[in-house]
Amino acid sequence: MLVRLIYASRASGIDGEKLSAIMKASRTHNAAAGITGVLVFSDGIFMQVLEGGRDEVSALYNRIAQSRSHRDVVLLDYEEISERRFAGWSMGQANLSRLNPGVLLKYSERAVLDPYKLGGQAAVALFEELVQTAVIACPGQ
Ligand SMILES: Cc1cc2nc3c(=O)[nH]c(=O)nc-3n(C[C@H](O)[C@H](O)[C@H](O)COP(=O)(O)O)c2cc1C
Repeated sequence: MLVRLIYASRASGIDGEKLSAIMKASRTHNAAAGITGVLVFSDGIFMQVLEGGRDEVSALYNRIAQSRSHRDVVLLDYEEISERRFAGWSMGQANLSRLNPGVLLKYSERAVLDPYKLGGQAAVALFEELVQTAVIACPGQ
């Protein structure tokens, strides 16, 4: 059975090097565990979508939530799904500087990423738009 989980968090002590290390470790682990998804990082805020088997997604979310690299981890959406929407990425990284502010405005009150004010379905829609507008980078894949 497949599930999709989306959470938001506030980064803590993250620099470019640490972020690259997280992405590298994520791609290795996620590929082995059958997990796909996208990680957005903007203005000190993370938002991540994880898709995969229920046990795998649950175990990964528990591990991620314990990371000291972020805090205020809030679950935005969790649902059973019949198919993946982000199957192309073991963990894609969204480059928000290349994102049209109009895309953010479409789903939120202001043209800044504030997932704490975003409903679960709006979060899914925003991720889908990121994928469609090709601002997802996945070096090495
Ligand atoms: C925002 C964020 C996203 C993460 N995403 C993944 C992931 O998709 N797959 C994975 O295996 N680990 C993921 N991790 C966990 C890291 O690979 C690493 O295990 C963890 O950050 C180590 O904990 P520490 O930061 O306290 O040293 C993530 C961590 C953070 C902070």
